[in-house]
Amino acid sequence: MKNKRILLIIGGGIAAYKCLDLIRRLREFGAGVRVVMTRAAQEFITPLSVSALTNERVFTDLFDLDDEREIGHIRLSREADAIIVAPATADLIAKIAGGHANDLATSVLLASDKALLLAPAMNPRMWLNPATQRNVCQLEADGVRFVGPEEGEMAERGEAGPGRMAETSELISALEAMPGIAGSGKALLGSLSGKHVVITSGPTHEPIDPVRYIANRSSGKQGHAIAIAAQRAGAKVTLISGPVDLPDPSGVDTWHVETATEMKDAVAGALPADIAVFCAAVADWKVAEQVGQKIKKAKGAPSPTLKLVTNPDILKTVASLKSGRPKLVVGFAAETEKVIDHARAKLASKGCDLIVANDVSAATGVMGGDRNSVHLVTHDGEISWPEMSKDAVAAKLIDELALRLGDSKLAESTKKKRGQRRARAKPKKTKKVRKT
Ligand code: PMT
Repeated sequence: MKNKRILLIIGGGIAAYKCLDLIRRLREFGAGVRVVMTRAAQEFITPLSVSALTNERVFTDLFDLDDEREIGHIRLSREADAIIVAPATADLIAKIAGGHANDLATSVLLASDKALLLAPAMNPRMWLNPATQRNVCQLEADGVRFVGPEEGEMAERGEAGPGRMAETSELISALEAMPGIAGSGKALLGSLSGKHVVITSGPTHEPIDPVRYIANRSSGKQGHAIAIAAQRAGAKVTLISGPVDLPDPSGVDTWHVETATEMKDAVAGALPADIAVFCAAVADWKVAEQVGQKIKKAKGAPSPTLKLVTNPDILKTVASLKSGRPKLVVGFAAETEKVIDHARAKLASKGCDLIVANDVSAATGVMGGDRNSVHLVTHDGEISWPEMSKDAVAAKLIDELALRLGDSKLAESTKKKRGQRRARAKPKKTKKVRKT
């Protein structure tokens, strides 16, 4: 968020008070925050308190002559990297969906081509009303993003259901994943349209007997977020998922598998693709001989010994395809030490174009958690990204991949590097570090 410019439009709802915390947190992250308040918002919090937190004047009036001379509402949008409306009331949502422009907030939004995030907050019956749901569908179809609402008790006594504005941390995670914040924004505006992206996600389960299996702690959050980001960038997405507790992302063709062998077959069935991203935590080994019945614990008998055999390496298989190889093959490296060194070794041994390396030591909470801190390891060097939400990693990764796919020179350089690497016994180590 550092040096990003956020335009916050505060709508008229009781949740407006949460925006004070949002502004404070955004500024702590190094973002600049400019605020437009609707007339109704000013009934809940004052422009004075907002201005004290943003250290900027607060914009409230479309007919403020000073600003209109400089085409104020257009400048407000032009100078922002992303726009968030919080709380997005039913009335504001309806006006945005209908293209109204009868006050400063709606005029800014109608005149804007920037990424827009809405944080709805309203009475559950208003949220569930078919009119609001129709407006939400329309806005989603227009490329507008939503965060929340969450379920819970309303400010009015006895009212509960979906309608609470998302918490500050959720708003920030969603903002971090916005085009214009997460990446250049170019890719996410549709430059993967017409492309097919195959993504693996989650763990695999390797059966021991009919009731027991070998597994790992992958939740699928990172892989599913990549699928959603690719779909938002306009790609046709096939997500091949191991057993996870996540819903299938809407608009994404999701195939469910259990074992590494099933995942390998599914990937083969999903190709051809332009990009393949292997985010799944595939079990390296499976039990050599599965038994048809539950292994019994017999009194006095020794504990059973499991004989393991190696699972097929899906990433390596796809990266070394002679024909039908995706133009970009991306692997992940889950490491607990020497993260970049091990990732670089995997880049060479698996034959892929790029490795996304992450530290999965227990202390990082990456496996199963909501945040990640990754290094992109390529044949040209490394890029380290700061810690961010998994949604933001996904958006930034898809942005990077779309740019690489579109950049024939880069693609050519990767191809050349692969050729050189095959010719050499040992890959040349480059230590170019680009921090972003
Ligand atoms: O699911 P989350 O809780 O969100 O956590 C995300 C994650 C930590 C699982 C993810 O970011 C990640 O690191 N995924 C890769 C996990 C892994 O298996 O890494 P690896 O270093 O063991 O494998 C290297 C690469 O080979 C991976 O791209 C893996 O998908 C692939 N592989 C591994 C073994 C195998 N038999 N076939 C494969 O394709």
